[in-house]
Amino acid sequence: MWRSLLKLYAFFLVIVLAAIAMALLVTRKFMYIGKMPAQGGGAQGESMGQGTWQLMSENAGIASMHAVVTRFGTVVMLDRTNIGASQINLTGARCRHQPTELTLKHDCTAHSIVFTPGLDNPVRPLYIQTDTWCSSGQLNGDGTIVQTGGDFEGITKIRRFWPCAPDGNCDWVESTKESLKMGRWYASNQLLPDGYTQIVVGGRNVFTYEYIPNPSASPATFLPFLQKTSDAQADNLYPFLHLLPDGSLFIFANRDSIILNYTSNTILKTLPTIPGEPRNYPSAGSSVMLPLRAADGYAHVEILVCGGAQYGAFLNPNQFLPASQTCGRIDVLATNPQWEMETMPMRRTMGDMLLLPSEEVLIINGAQNGCQGWGFANNPALSPVVYNPSKANGERFTTMAATTIPRLYHSTANLLPDGRVIVAGSNTHQYYTFTGEFPTELRVEAFLPTYLDSVYNNMRPRIMQAPEKVTYSESFEVRVAMAVAPAAKEIRMSLMSAPFSTHSFSQGQRLLSLQVLPPSAAEDNVYIISATAPSSASLAPPSYYMLFAVNNGIPSATCKWVQLVQNT
Ligand SMILES: *[C@@H]1O[C@H](CO)[C@@H](O)[C@H](O)[C@H]1NC(C)=O
Ligand SMILES: *[C@@H]1O[C@H](CO)[C@@H](O)[C@H](O)[C@H]1NC(C)=O
Repeated sequence: MWRSLLKLYAFFLVIVLAAIAMALLVTRKFMYIGKMPAQGGGAQGESMGQGTWQLMSENAGIASMHAVVTRFGTVVMLDRTNIGASQINLTGARCRHQPTELTLKHDCTAHSIVFTPGLDNPVRPLYIQTDTWCSSGQLNGDGTIVQTGGDFEGITKIRRFWPCAPDGNCDWVESTKESLKMGRWYASNQLLPDGYTQIVVGGRNVFTYEYIPNPSASPATFLPFLQKTSDAQADNLYPFLHLLPDGSLFIFANRDSIILNYTSNTILKTLPTIPGEPRNYPSAGSSVMLPLRAADGYAHVEILVCGGAQYGAFLNPNQFLPASQTCGRIDVLATNPQWEMETMPMRRTMGDMLLLPSEEVLIINGAQNGCQGWGFANNPALSPVVYNPSKANGERFTTMAATTIPRLYHSTANLLPDGRVIVAGSNTHQYYTFTGEFPTELRVEAFLPTYLDSVYNNMRPRIMQAPEKVTYSESFEVRVAMAVAPAAKEIRMSLMSAPFSTHSFSQGQRLLSLQVLPPSAAEDNVYIISATAPSSASLAPPSYYMLFAVNNGIPSATCKWVQLVQNT
């Protein structure tokens, strides 16, 4: 009796708190209609509803250009080799001797690191042999990071990183047996449904795609679309790739997109040209496939492309032309797909788009003028924005608290297992340069979306138990602790890949909102949620995924890494 009264009391308390929070949000929103939040102000400890920023490290030793989160919660970051000495030495008396290296033939500093959030000394140097500058990559089904190409002596290289626990000494291994068929600089990778083959698409002056591994040693396949979308700025680089639920591949380059059956090399669909600016490198918009939802049988696939730069910004970099302020959203499987255009709260080039476990999209980093290239941008976009896909056009964006650290060319953003977003890098110079307006940035920050505000703590689920592995279509149980009983329909499960972030595009990013049954109470404040894994490997290729329980938009305190496998 007393217990249920207490529960009732707690329930009303939450309602009242939520009402206060809503009231605060509404007031803030109206305040901003007259006056946008000032940028560059004090970033730490912002008030509710705008997220907060934390400094994670004063000096990571390298400026992150490529980054991926491993299933151990570590973050592997890569820069490039031909940049001179970094600010972190290799350990164990290791040095790189590379006769073909352009800058330092004998280099005892690291150009890749593994960063472990939460450790006092979170940085461990890693060893790469050849230049990874503007390379591509992806996590494989077995949790290995596979990373391909780069520049100069690294342009055809294939490197693998088998992750280990934070106290381990795992490192990059560069293959001596296999290499890319064509040199690829600024390509994009996508893991295929078999869980171990990656398709590698495009690159500078390379209008083909190929596979790794490539046991049949077949040549790269010519894709005229890549040639057609190239222009005087080479605006087709780092193409946006999204593996669609039927196993075909959506490819976006410049302002155009196709759906490709890569097996038969046939174009299944050509989509309309997006209005506005070019969107790929060097114009640097970004793209996500919006969450795929079991609630509609995963049948609805929408792609969102945001930001970019004015055509000509790269050819006339000293003009710092205003960046794109638009997003386009397209329902790719519709009979007659059309771009639905929307306006962002601010212009942005070099923004990173990240799916959040709350099924929202974060757009973070970048600049409001210029484009990618050394010194080609200014007017940093310090405030991230959050896009809520389920709201009506015109109501989807919320502006977040500004950071004080510009993140321009060559920076990264990745979702961490605790729901924070790790932001690193920014180097708009050819070498490490710590003077001038936008110095090389070695600091690492975390952005905490509003769902991490402490006001939501009593709604925040805690995953107590979940399987390590699940197979396709398998129903599995997750034990979740929550202070307050969830309304049945408000519990969701977000299954999220760990993508490879570089140059404003997160390769291999996807979120599946799983089918779940209403939670059943197991014991005090503990519930059992029955969820169903996706039915096919083209919905989600075999790999390690972050599984978050999400209570009314508030994700669990940490995810549980779950390996999706063909057979246990
Ligand atoms: C790296 O090693 C060099 C040579 O021993 C030393 O001068 C330098 O201070 C070291 N740098 C760091 C960041 O430890
Ligand atoms: C792609 O082509 C292959 C080979 O012709 C075929 O088996 C497969 O069903 C096609 N996939 C799609 C999504 O059209």
